[in-house]
Amino acid sequence: MNGNFTLYTPTKVVFGRKTEQKAGELVRAFGGSRVLIHYGGHSALRSGLIDRVKTSLDEAGIFHVELGGVVPNPQLDKVYEGIELAKANGVDFILAVGGGSVIDSAKAIAYALAEPEFDVKELYEHTRQAKACFPVGTILTIAASGSEMSDSSVISYEDKKRGYNSDLCRPKFAIMDPELTLTLPDYQTCAGCSDILMHTMERYFTTGSKLEITDALAEGLLRTVMKYAAVLHEDPTNYEARAEVMWAGSLSHNGLTGCGNDGNDFASHRLEHELGALYGVTHGAGLTAVWPSWAKYVYKNCLPRFVRFARNVMCVEAGLSDEDTALEGIAAMEDYFRSIGMPVTLKELLGKTVSEEEIRLLAKNCALATGGKVGSAMVLYEEDMANIYRMAKE
Ligand code: NZQ
Ligand code: ZN
Repeated sequence: MNGNFTLYTPTKVVFGRKTEQKAGELVRAFGGSRVLIHYGGHSALRSGLIDRVKTSLDEAGIFHVELGGVVPNPQLDKVYEGIELAKANGVDFILAVGGGSVIDSAKAIAYALAEPEFDVKELYEHTRQAKACFPVGTILTIAASGSEMSDSSVISYEDKKRGYNSDLCRPKFAIMDPELTLTLPDYQTCAGCSDILMHTMERYFTTGSKLEITDALAEGLLRTVMKYAAVLHEDPTNYEARAEVMWAGSLSHNGLTGCGNDGNDFASHRLEHELGALYGVTHGAGLTAVWPSWAKYVYKNCLPRFVRFARNVMCVEAGLSDEDTALEGIAAMEDYFRSIGMPVTLKELLGKTVSEEEIRLLAKNCALATGGKVGSAMVLYEEDMANIYRMAKE
């Protein structure tokens, strides 16, 4: 724990109103000439965004084919469909138009195209490492996953939801027009903001903090996102608030807020992934449903951080013992999640009480997916995972 770090964040960010018009020019600049436009269900079609993207590619003289239909918690079957379509058309660049699900599906297709002799599923099964990846560009439509700058891709198959991380898939560019997010339903906006908070907190709750600047960036990001998520919960049309959370989303997961602090706990994420796999829940909502229980389970192991979080982020006043300060901070965060309409228990998330059998299955799957243990604020084993799911029950 010496504060050393490597930050690799090669994505060109093009931010602001109408920046999607630059798609053709950017694809061309990064060497693309035959593009697969990849998108989700309906939102990007309905808003006319896909047509505008096609126009921009046409103006740059770039060939394109398209594949929509990516669902939240993106599926491997769709990835295979994209691979076939891309191969049949000699695609050399994947343009993801959407959120984390679309971007992650695009990254999986890009891995597969670069090493066509292998099944891309092996990456998510962690039986092979990627050696290459086709270029991916993104036009972001929801501030949430941070996938537009991250090294990660998360794909679902056979009741599993698995991630694969490698710098190879970091997007070449990220077009971020906050106006594109104005059509988001409130629940998706707030789930997205919660995910952004969580990407920062997963790094912040650490026993290895070394750099004041990293902590200050993280705390500033948390305060800013909490402020503007609350604004958007009341006024979804607020462009400035959309812009704040959109940029925060990228910064929360491109590595910046963890530089030199040995964070990367990500236990809440891994606990959530099993909820996504089993129940198909919205990622950000799954996170808020487990975080309060995770925090109450681990805070004693990481007390100075929880105290600092309570004071600097949740504005808990001085005068209490360290332990009470930490608990006040956790309670304040729980209240905050509730105030923006997010669930803080599994019952609120799923609308039912999970059985002991389901808890055991979730914990078993989580332990399997994580190689038996996860977390750095506190290392969790299968029994701990089950305890946290149990605490989160209702
Ligand atoms: O499919 P459409 O019709 O576009 O609807 C989507 C979807 O239903 C909708 N939406 C997106 N932009 C919209 C919009 N609706 C109206 N107007 C717009 N402008 O929002 C819904 C959610 O979209 P999705 O892409 O699933 O959201 P998000 O960005 O939260 O991505 C979630 C996925 O990313 C993974 C999650 O696990 C989950 O699978 N993650 C990826 C990470 C990464 N690659 O770095 C890190 C994260 O921690 C996360 O695990
Ligand atoms: Zn996340």
